[in-house]
Amino acid sequence: MLDRIKSLHDEIACITAANKDEAEELRIKYLSKKGLVSKLFDEFKNVPVEQKKAVGAAINELKNFATEKINGLKEAFQSGHSGAEGLDLTLPGDSISLGSRHPLSIVRNEIIRIFSRLGFVVSEGPEIEDDWHVFSALNFAPEHPARDMQDTFFIEKDPDVLLRTHTSSVQVRVMEKTQPPIRAIFPGRVFRNEAISYRAHCIFHQVEGLYVDENVSFADLKQTLLFFSRELFGEKTEIRLRPSYFPFTEPSAEMDVSCSICGGKGCNVCKHTGWLEIMGCGMVDPNVLDLCGIDSKKYTGFAFGMGIERIAMLKYGVKDLRLFFENDVRFLNQFQSAL
Ligand code: DAH
Repeated sequence: MLDRIKSLHDEIACITAANKDEAEELRIKYLSKKGLVSKLFDEFKNVPVEQKKAVGAAINELKNFATEKINGLKEAFQSGHSGAEGLDLTLPGDSISLGSRHPLSIVRNEIIRIFSRLGFVVSEGPEIEDDWHVFSALNFAPEHPARDMQDTFFIEKDPDVLLRTHTSSVQVRVMEKTQPPIRAIFPGRVFRNEAISYRAHCIFHQVEGLYVDENVSFADLKQTLLFFSRELFGEKTEIRLRPSYFPFTEPSAEMDVSCSICGGKGCNVCKHTGWLEIMGCGMVDPNVLDLCGIDSKKYTGFAFGMGIERIAMLKYGVKDLRLFFENDVRFLNQFQSAL
């Protein structure tokens, strides 16, 4: 008897009705006077005395279960309800958030777009490099401090396997493989062993540029950078080149743009100088050309390198560089771009 109660219970647990009439048929089948559940009550008198308690409780429980279940089915069809109660089907749908391009990608794409208009193509090189491509071929003296553990991340204590500290390494790779004319830019991620603060990070991004051909002059460099700066920061932008030193360029310079925030009058961002430093540049040292297999008697070239974070900070007025790495959508959503 208990087995039959159990299988009836399982059967009722699975019943469904497509409309009110079907629900009523189910009520008749199980709960009417001659219904399957009611029949159990009739048979109860034959149950041996010692089982009466358990069987009685099981039949009562089954009856309650069947009543609740069938009432539930009926209610679903009362006054036109169809199981979708509480839903307002005229409400507009939830919009799906699309995300936005990262500000560093926006700036990188903008830089690439400007230089492609001047005929520069994009190349990339590896992030894990060797000493030759990051330092030696770029004229770094053996005792140069950049080769120190304090500045460079080495991999597994091998002094010849390291994370590139600048994208200038890609210059070397391209010159080793290609003869001039070369006109290319190299965007990428670089690594330096620096404490993280609002203005420095151990991982950041650069864009390197290289132009090697016959008769490339410093005037070409200056004109290229002026065009670039005006495209990026606005047509009123002025540039100035200050003499500097890099092992791989001679002469070398640091380039400033007139402060786009105060228009050169002086403000907090430009520290009241009216100028913002945005990149290093210079004429490729003939030594570097020769080390990379390019005839320095025939060809000359210029190179430049800039930090993408720095430009993004200036362009968008972002005061803390760490924001670019935290992936907080409240920050990222503020940047929209078609690029
Ligand atoms: N590699 C330099 C740096 O990371 C930037 C640089 C300076 C690149 C001068 C150049 C250059 O190509 O000519 O600080």
